[in-house]
Amino acid sequence: MARLRHIAVLASGGDSPGMNAATRAVVRTAIAGGAQITGIMRGYSGLVAGEFRALDARSVSNVIQTGGTILKTSRCEEFLRPEGRAKAAARLRDAGIEGLIAIGGDGTFRGLHALASEHGVAVIGVPGTIDNDVFGTDATIGFDTAANTALESIDKIRDTAASHDRIFFIEVMGRRCGALALAVGVAGGAEVILVPEVPVDLASVCGVLEEGRRRGKTSYIIVVAEGAYEGGAQAVAQAVKDRLGISYRVSVIGHIQRGGSPTAFDRTLATRLGRAAVDAILGGETDRMVGVTCGEVALVPLPDTWEKKKPVDLDLLKLTTIMSS
Ligand code: F6P
Repeated sequence: MARLRHIAVLASGGDSPGMNAATRAVVRTAIAGGAQITGIMRGYSGLVAGEFRALDARSVSNVIQTGGTILKTSRCEEFLRPEGRAKAAARLRDAGIEGLIAIGGDGTFRGLHALASEHGVAVIGVPGTIDNDVFGTDATIGFDTAANTALESIDKIRDTAASHDRIFFIEVMGRRCGALALAVGVAGGAEVILVPEVPVDLASVCGVLEEGRRRGKTSYIIVVAEGAYEGGAQAVAQAVKDRLGISYRVSVIGHIQRGGSPTAFDRTLATRLGRAAVDAILGGETDRMVGVTCGEVALVPLPDTWEKKKPVDLDLLKLTTIMSS
């Protein structure tokens, strides 16, 4: 197969800190490899609509340290349908674009795989999501930054919780995956961590609070992944109050976790994966995601990224029980 001469890059789904570092790496590696590079704005929506922008090395100056995505992003209903993908493939053909690199999570990769299978477009995925829920990579771009952002808030809440002898229920992002809650719960010294992977046992949450009181604890941090309990942290807190009659405070950290300057870890990961994605696509690979496993860059078939489950480390829950004594 002839080496590709013109490729494109887009970001899709929820943005994550480090997407710009990945875009920069894609652009500069493509140029170094002698390929033309086009940016597609607003993810698959911009692809279907033909919102293309020529990129050069200067287009990605001063972005390595920024959060969000200069390419903008979206969740595109139209791309979920074959007609939407046919339009997208035609847009790529008309612009002379032979390959597409998409930065995003499992939803992004499903669309990318469908585009490759239905229209023969060469595609490579780069994992960018704060959820760290993609099989085939130890870390996704943005997870480390989001964890540190949430942790900073938890540390601050801890100050006020301790001063007032209060119980705080803190909600972090993660609709279907508890990786972020586990990471920040352990690092933030939480007494309890609630994740979507384990049904919430209210009796055991109440047990931790009562046992803690017996042992002289006066304040508590309970980290709740947004998808752990119907209604989130507010609903768990109310359910615990109904049983114990305690007073509590709730803090929802929210989209702050999605923004901000990426950590050194995320910038390095993004730069390595952006480069690997271009090397792969120009080298004739397609329908793969680039990931990092045990420190090494590896290519994973795109369907594996959502068909296989990356397990969260539930041993961290046991660790939390021991640490909260
Ligand atoms: O997938 C990333 C994520 O931040 C999830 O943790 C969260 O549940 C979701 O996106 C929120 O999405 P949005 O508010 O952008 O629709």
